[in-house]
Amino acid sequence: MTEATRVSGRELPRIHVRPPGPASAAMAKRLHEVESRNVTFVSEHWPVFWTEAVGANVLDADGNVFVDLTSAFGVALLGHASPVVQEALRGGSSLIHGMGDIHPPAPKLELLEKLAAFGPWPETKAILSTGGSEAVEAALKTGALASGRPGVLAFEGAYHGLTAGSLSATPRPHFRALFEDRLYGGVAFAPFPDHLRDPTPDGADSLEAVRDALKHGAPNGDPIGTIIIEPIQARGGARIPPEAFLAGLSSLAREFDVLLIADEIMTGMGRCGAPLVSSVLGLEPDIVVVGKALGGGMPISACIAPSRVMDAWPVSDGEAIHTSTFLGHPLSCTAAAAVLDAIQSHDIPRRSREVGDALLGGLRSRLMDAPGVADVRGVGLLLGIEFVEDEALTPARGRGARVAEAALLEGLILLPGGDHGHVLELTPPATLTEQQVEHSVRVIGDIVGRTP
Ligand SMILES: Cc1ncc(COP(=O)(O)O)c(C=O)c1O
Repeated sequence: MTEATRVSGRELPRIHVRPPGPASAAMAKRLHEVESRNVTFVSEHWPVFWTEAVGANVLDADGNVFVDLTSAFGVALLGHASPVVQEALRGGSSLIHGMGDIHPPAPKLELLEKLAAFGPWPETKAILSTGGSEAVEAALKTGALASGRPGVLAFEGAYHGLTAGSLSATPRPHFRALFEDRLYGGVAFAPFPDHLRDPTPDGADSLEAVRDALKHGAPNGDPIGTIIIEPIQARGGARIPPEAFLAGLSSLAREFDVLLIADEIMTGMGRCGAPLVSSVLGLEPDIVVVGKALGGGMPISACIAPSRVMDAWPVSDGEAIHTSTFLGHPLSCTAAAAVLDAIQSHDIPRRSREVGDALLGGLRSRLMDAPGVADVRGVGLLLGIEFVEDEALTPARGRGARVAEAALLEGLILLPGGDHGHVLELTPPATLTEQQVEHSVRVIGDIVGRTP
């Protein structure tokens, strides 16, 4: 804890005003007047306004201290206000903004060289961007250029973002319905394996559907040149494919000469126990997208690919055909370069495995036999508790959200996942202490027991 901060990052929750307290409620009222009403969900029970975040702790406007089991959408894997990021920013140059694709800021080059070494191929090139959806756009364009075929195969339950291209590959009707007629129709969706419900637990049915789509093309008739997949579905509800599935998918991609994009925006950077989880799950991608934890809280993302794929882009003639104002933002690049170093020097993948195993073990022993709990699963620090209605495994619509709402009252920040909000998702920071793990397990166990 520094003089400037009021929480250390290692504390247990301290709730002295029922959240949302009066200060948060007053801010929510003001927000309602000035922000588009679809952006922030406001109710009697939600949200709290953050004023400080350190390690695993968040302080709200009413002085309540929370443990953040989301690391704010998976971003703060190294903890909020990580010393790694703070020191890098303090020690970096005074350059606040550069001219990304024209006169580049020097930190852009340093980051690109580190990303080239980070990629799983001998010669790696990257396109930087600001958020995850943008990196997905870059990857989909790269896939189309390198394969020469515009069609895409994506998976049911996937979340790749909400910009037009990434939304085309995100099947959930909630996000698409109002914009369906603006979305690219050349995306085929195959089922993502569901080990609880599939008759073939090895994902063979899903691979058959992939084969079929690759043979026959997308719904609009476009031939498919790119497959995009999250090696573990994140917002889809921490869905882990069976062991042989991703290797099988890689073989199909080779057989049909199709490029494979691994969307590691949530799973990458050590969260799932490896710098890139595809490498340990048998996926052999041609393109990888990373974001979220990459900047340690600074906005940055990247689409990386071997030169043989990335060089499908023409050489710039002075007017880049895929760029943006903040591409290669110097502060974000400086932070990301430090995060990439820290993943190795602090062995973040190992820490994620250790903390994740402790959390998973605790949650399993508390909840595996609890009524309505179909599964407690996780890889490293991406975990999910899946709720069902009945023996037929009907998803318990909204129960993940109800548990998250009840958890807020006890000082735990959590989010629901899954197409039906039927999963409680945990993506905590790797800085979570043993005490914070034990406390979280106890509180979640109690809340699940009393929240139908
Ligand atoms: C796997 C995955 N891909 C893409 C995205 C989109 O990233 P962003 O929200 O930064 O645009 C997300 C965000 O949750 C994600 O989890």
